[in-house]
Amino acid sequence: MKKILVTGGAGYIGSHTVVELVEAGYEPIIIDNFSNTEERSLQGIADILGREVICHRIDCTDAAALRQVFEQETGIAGVIHFAAYKAVGESVAEPLKYYHNNVGSLVALLQVMEEFKVDKLVFSSSCTVYGIPAELPVTEQTPVQKANSPYGNTKKICEEILTDLATSGSDIHTIALRYFNPIGAHPSAKIGELPLGVPNNLVPFITQTAAGIRQELTIFGDDYDTQDGTCIRDYVHVVDLAKAHVVAIDRLLSGKADNIEFFNVGTGTGNTVLEAVQAFERATGEKLNYKIGPRRPGDVPKIYADVTKATEELGFKTTSTLEEAMKSAWDWQMHLQNTSEQV
Ligand code: UD1
Repeated sequence: MKKILVTGGAGYIGSHTVVELVEAGYEPIIIDNFSNTEERSLQGIADILGREVICHRIDCTDAAALRQVFEQETGIAGVIHFAAYKAVGESVAEPLKYYHNNVGSLVALLQVMEEFKVDKLVFSSSCTVYGIPAELPVTEQTPVQKANSPYGNTKKICEEILTDLATSGSDIHTIALRYFNPIGAHPSAKIGELPLGVPNNLVPFITQTAAGIRQELTIFGDDYDTQDGTCIRDYVHVVDLAKAHVVAIDRLLSGKADNIEFFNVGTGTGNTVLEAVQAFERATGEKLNYKIGPRRPGDVPKIYADVTKATEELGFKTTSTLEEAMKSAWDWQMHLQNTSEQV
């Protein structure tokens, strides 16, 4: 079984990817510093797989610690690099934390990969690199724009670092996946998103509101130029997104990939915030308490993906509807309530 190192493998998208890697016949090795997730995600992975996955508790910015992992885990075939911070507002308040962690971890990882001649990388990028796009849907050719936040800038800088490395003639081949909005949880409800404190993202806020943890959802603005005035996003089920990483690794290992490739990973469909709320209500039978509030500064009015490239070149496809994704998010919320570990 080919070993794939998964940094941030105990996190939201990372944990789902670890499960899909095992199911596709790979041997994932997790690296995580547990700064933004909990040990219970490892238990969830083990419950789904019926066995534990190796996890090294180290910080990915620590090159010496990374080196030790590469020495210990001989024969790593490729790396999937999730480890990063992702809270937009926090990045505005604490930019150095974001540059250090998100950019520093990539640089340290690439240096150690070169030393150990590990030359396949899947990088977690984001549709944030497109800023407010002039045309929809966005393709990989849509121009990248100045970032709206330090978080967004770290993704843009990391893409530039990887592009420079590819141009330099390095042996490292990279596939950067530009995620749209990942939502939902594993159908087993044993792993899912574990937001610390008040969630920034829409779907955990919805599920916590329906569960009575939050009083009401505020919809940020209903005066945008969209069908119902609320923002449009492309919500992709996290399990579908996780599978995109498996086909990206397959492509890198098959030797078909160019030095650097970018792929949008979404569904190709845009939905408004109100449509997302209605899909949640339909899927779960719960009535959501919400109100309309002012716009959130920095929000992109509308964005959704053209996924033709990922479909044709990676064989990527989505299998879940918005309702199914919402139902899985709700089942996960219920699992958290039942295990009484969330406050
Ligand atoms: C945001 C970032 C994106 C980042 C992602 C990571 C921006 C512009 N984008 O995505 O770069 O990769 O987080 O987590 O900051 N909404 C509400 N009420 C809420 C929460 C959200 O109405 O309480 C709305 C938002 O206005 C938005 C949609 O729901 O229209 C999705 O919001 P969210 O889940 O925070 O994701 P993005 O803002 O798309």
